[in-house]
Amino acid sequence: SSQPRLVIAIDGPSGTGKSTIARWIAQELGLSYLDTGANYRAATLWCMKNGLDFDNPDAVDTQQITELIRTMPLAQDLNPNNFTLALDGEDITEAIRSDEVTAHVSVLSTRAQVREHLVQLQRQAIDARPRIVVEGRDITTVVAPDADARILLTASPEVRMARRGQQLRETDQNPSNVQNDVIGRDQKDSALVDFMSPADGVAEIDSTELSLEDTVTVVLAEIQRQQHAN
Ligand code: DC
Repeated sequence: SSQPRLVIAIDGPSGTGKSTIARWIAQELGLSYLDTGANYRAATLWCMKNGLDFDNPDAVDTQQITELIRTMPLAQDLNPNNFTLALDGEDITEAIRSDEVTAHVSVLSTRAQVREHLVQLQRQAIDARPRIVVEGRDITTVVAPDADARILLTASPEVRMARRGQQLRETDQNPSNVQNDVIGRDQKDSALVDFMSPADGVAEIDSTELSLEDTVTVVLAEIQRQQHAN
């Protein structure tokens, strides 16, 4: 389109409501929506389908993963009203949320070379649709440090665990593993990426005391502020 580039980067740990908020903002502003966590999950599922041995992660060759990612037949719909992913034509939007994928994803996300490939893929997606909300862990710092607005969404560990538990119950998944799912995964995920403190120029928004609606309002105001400041 002839409209100018508008990239909004939102990072943060899990359980902050980040995905819901990012998608809501994309709908509100009429932008595309990219969930980069879904990319890591899709790549993990692709590796599982191709027989990568996740039971012995130490024996898994990084080269083998990057080769698989290079040939991954991933298609994503970046419409925030219909965010879906497909591998080889098969819809994987729900499959990538399974406990198994969640448990295995760090085998990919903790390898710098694997991240480089996915970052490249994400930059290509942004260039193809340059009016977009992009959410993840390293968007404000690595994928799109030049974004028009950059926000780090945080919340206390207690609130994040409570929100994650509710999300699991709502989707009929086992809520017994919430602590490991939130705190344990944060620890693994932060091996190569700092998503707990805001980088220079990134606004931190703490949603601990805010409802979902109020958080969206605060984030929208911050986006406006940064757009006018830049
Ligand atoms: O946000 P999520 O839980 O769907 O993300 C899945 C995993 O992908 C998460 O455990 C960390 C990883 N991830 C990442 O390393 N970098 C990103 N930009 C997004 C996700």
